[in-house]
Amino acid sequence: MTQSPGEPLSRRRFVHLAAVGASVLAGGSLAALSSCDNSSTGPGGEGDPTRTPLLMPGTLAVTGGSLIAAPGTARISRTESSAAWLFEGGLPGPTIRARPGELARIQLQNGLPEPTIVHWHGVLVPASMDGHPRQAIGPGASYDYEYPIVQRAGTFWYHPHAHHLTAGQVHRGLAGFFIIEDDEEDALGLPTGDREILLLLQDRQGDAAAFDYSPDAADLVSGMLRDTPFGNGLRRPTLQVSGERYRFRILNASQARIYRLGLSNGGALTVIGNDGGLLPSPVQVDSVFLGVGERADVLIDFAPYAAGTRLTLKSLPFTVEFSPAARYPQGLEMDLLELVRTDATGPGDSPLPAVLSSIPPLLSGGAPDRHFVFQSTGVGDMHLINGLTFDMDRVDEQIPLGQVERWAFFNDSTLPHPVHLHGTHFQVESRTGGRNLVYPYEAGWKDTVLVMPLETVAVLVRFDRYPGVFPLHCHNLQHEDMGMMLNVEVV
Ligand code: C2O
Ligand code: CU
Repeated sequence: MTQSPGEPLSRRRFVHLAAVGASVLAGGSLAALSSCDNSSTGPGGEGDPTRTPLLMPGTLAVTGGSLIAAPGTARISRTESSAAWLFEGGLPGPTIRARPGELARIQLQNGLPEPTIVHWHGVLVPASMDGHPRQAIGPGASYDYEYPIVQRAGTFWYHPHAHHLTAGQVHRGLAGFFIIEDDEEDALGLPTGDREILLLLQDRQGDAAAFDYSPDAADLVSGMLRDTPFGNGLRRPTLQVSGERYRFRILNASQARIYRLGLSNGGALTVIGNDGGLLPSPVQVDSVFLGVGERADVLIDFAPYAAGTRLTLKSLPFTVEFSPAARYPQGLEMDLLELVRTDATGPGDSPLPAVLSSIPPLLSGGAPDRHFVFQSTGVGDMHLINGLTFDMDRVDEQIPLGQVERWAFFNDSTLPHPVHLHGTHFQVESRTGGRNLVYPYEAGWKDTVLVMPLETVAVLVRFDRYPGVFPLHCHNLQHEDMGMMLNVEVV
């Protein structure tokens, strides 16, 4: 795979298809790039020319790399680009791949005009390595991360976490994948290489202001919602697929948008994993809710579709009780990724094992040990947990290390709140009110759970590795920046 050093796309490569031939970025101008795009459409069907071919990010070695956050230029379509802030020049930033037992050593370098710090969302790290807002570093400074990889395989991600600045930095383009692989997952024979698709979803304004960050008063209530879908930083992406099984690792890195993933033809999605890694068994569903910060690991088999078939990965419509102030409501139907079946086929995929992973359930009797009430009042400090706004130096809860607790998250507002906990994963036990069920794809381990208005979600939590102070917060990035966050201290 050729890269083109020295220009904004250097960290990216095309997803190429064996039978269609490589669509290689040979370097040079954007004009050269789009003629490459054209030559990549094979006899099996032309993609929609107004769409942008999906690109995969480059990679960063976990065992010794620098990760520079700096202003740059993001290409947003075949012909347009936008000023952005990027990790190593790309959105997504370079993918970090690691295996248990490896020692991660990454130096963050702050090339931004404001403080930043990186949080490894879903990766279990000591509190000093977690990117707590107190650890933010100023422009020109660097932060040396060093921690062992101590967990099983899964799709994780990294993004800035400086207080009041997270939303703007993510929106301007700072986010990347952190993938852990292990022997258990290897044994399943899941699709790899060109059939392993990383898809970072965001909604943006569809024009040259796509990466500008200037939320208005309504955005600060609902969170910033826009109406144009971007995948891996590209507007309305399209992807050519062969007649084989593909793995899609899908990340919601939006500001506030919740997706309900589904296929345009109503076909089933096979979900094999979520935030914390593999599910116990694959589940077949028509749709998957994906709140901000959540991940879905999904298999789609294109063998049943004729060459030339066009499908779309969509966000299906849904309704939520919602603030009337919002101009772009949650639940908007969106075309997230066009999928064009080429005439290429493969040797055929072996059946998926019925058991993916064995996950011991956490057990705890009795009433919830802790209650967290999420409120959006619309005035003053408007997004609160238990009546409090974030004070990064205040400890709100002390949690004994190694003990299983039951926590209840109650959404006492008309806005969705995707609740995220650092420092461990949890198991979703029940959801009462609202949708009133736990979806099969919420089994296993989670680090973020979507709590819709008037829902109570009970989770079982155990911090079993690292003591210290970890945040619990809403991952709607406007809510988070405005203080919908507490500190829990593991003791
Ligand atoms: Cu993805 Cu505290 O964040
Ligand atoms: Cu929220």
